[in-house]
Amino acid sequence: METKIYTIETIEEAGQALKNGQIVAFPTETVYGLGAIASNEQAVSSVYQVKGRPSDNPLIVHVSTIEQVIKVVESFPLAAKKLTNVFWPGPLTIILPVREGVFAPSVTGGRKTVAFRMPDHSLALALISACQEPIVGPSANKSGRPSPTKVSHVMDDFDGQIAGICDGGMTQIGLESTVLDLSDPEQFSILRPGFVSREAIEEVLGLNIHVASEKESAAKDEAPRAPGMKYRHYAPETPVMALSPNGDAWQAHIKSLNKQGNKIAILANQTLVDHFASQVHATYSLGQEGDIQSMAHHLFDGLRQLDKSGAQVILVESSEDSQLGLAYMNRLKKAVKAD
Ligand code: TXA
Ligand code: MG
Repeated sequence: METKIYTIETIEEAGQALKNGQIVAFPTETVYGLGAIASNEQAVSSVYQVKGRPSDNPLIVHVSTIEQVIKVVESFPLAAKKLTNVFWPGPLTIILPVREGVFAPSVTGGRKTVAFRMPDHSLALALISACQEPIVGPSANKSGRPSPTKVSHVMDDFDGQIAGICDGGMTQIGLESTVLDLSDPEQFSILRPGFVSREAIEEVLGLNIHVASEKESAAKDEAPRAPGMKYRHYAPETPVMALSPNGDAWQAHIKSLNKQGNKIAILANQTLVDHFASQVHATYSLGQEGDIQSMAHHLFDGLRQLDKSGAQVILVESSEDSQLGLAYMNRLKKAVKAD
């Protein structure tokens, strides 16, 4: 199969491919997603298959209107109304109880809830409008790999295996959406941290939000809260080590890894990159020191590029565990653990 590149001019054609049951990747403000019509069981199954995704890990349904959510859920609570008013379109996914039989059974991975999101990207919204139906959109990477922020990342993983990719250039945020579970009225929980912070959600709702711990959301029992979190994730082939942005620690690690004959790659702020470039095999700059938005924007591209550099270890700058830093560290810790 030839994987076509679609633009806004050919978006109707991309919508038609989806209607025909094919898979089309699309850009969002977070990362690229693998689109398929959410009510088409055969199309959704082929998304799991091509990604190599475990069948108990449910997919996010992407909509272009609030009505597409309201008409399929059991109820649309006030909290959902307030949050979607403020954050949609945008990087917040909400989980709600859904009516039976609306979506292909594999969308929910056997659950009674569905995750919904309205992406803040004109191509994504145009694609959903073109097929007049909600589409699933797991990140467009092979299961376990870093999420894609560029068309070339999607091509690396799926060239020849999907009908096409809508080209929106590099995605803006670079980390996946915040996943917020609203299905239990007693306690709302963040299952995956993202660009929309806990503080921002608490401000809109005027109440405290629980942030599921790594342990809680990743528990390997039969019903983990956020099934995606228990799997190997975000990992390049090359082993990854996280280091805080302290020049002395970097110097010590680079020295000892070089002594052991390791080819080192570093993914760090511009100052560290400039300082250590001559002592390592490859570098990728995350931007100016302390710029967490730039770090989030570049993390997955950096991991993918350095994975191709021939290095034997990738040293990655860590950040503080708060606000967007919490989302960044959530991904980085998984890339480290996977080795
Ligand atoms: O930013 C994003 O959310 C991107 C873009 C493409 O929209 N999509 C994305 O999808 O990251 P995916 O499939 O890679 O991650 C979805 C996460 C998984 O961790 C999954 O387990 C969780 O959401 N999830 C989906 N439906 C759920 C449900 N009903 N209950 C609990 N967790 C759910
Ligand atoms: Mg993913």
